[in-house]
Amino acid sequence: MTDKPLVAAGGIATPATITAVLAAGASAAQVGSALMLTPEAGTSEAHRAAFSDDAPTDLTRAFTGRRGRGIVNRFMREYGGLAPKAYPHVHYLTAPLRAAARAAGDRDVLNLWAGRAYRFAQPRPAAELISSWVEELGSRR
Ligand SMILES: Cc1cc2nc3c(=O)[nH]c(=O)nc-3n(C[C@H](O)[C@H](O)[C@H](O)COP(=O)(O)O)c2cc1C
Repeated sequence: MTDKPLVAAGGIATPATITAVLAAGASAAQVGSALMLTPEAGTSEAHRAAFSDDAPTDLTRAFTGRRGRGIVNRFMREYGGLAPKAYPHVHYLTAPLRAAARAAGDRDVLNLWAGRAYRFAQPRPAAELISSWVEELGSRR
């Protein structure tokens, strides 16, 4: 137990999940992938397109040498098991490959970072999305 504020994070992308984590004792909920299709996000076109693929996510060291969660693609499948624990060396090694893949729109080689609830991401302005959540959360009280 702690008396510090606890922020719940990871896989939170709907008002229902926010209600659940606050009910479980969190002081706040943090969202990441839920905002990645908003026009304000710097998400590349190929990364945005991958959000419609319905592929699973997994943890991988393949892109940077440090574990991160992404939508599974060919690069993750082929190198996930081989990548050493070597951040930032692997990051620098793969950076040109990822830049070229981004430019070519090749989502089989890109680092498609995404949390488990990425399928709930919506292509709406962030303010509009969050306002709709606030409204829904208010009506649940
Ligand atoms: C654009 C983006 C960048 C990320 N960068 C990192 C990172 O540098 N290191 C890391 O450990 N996880 C990274 N992650 C993964 C998050 O730590 C986390 O697994 C995931 O986003 C869970 O939260 P969410 O469901 O709200 O997105 C990143 C995720 C996204 C979407």
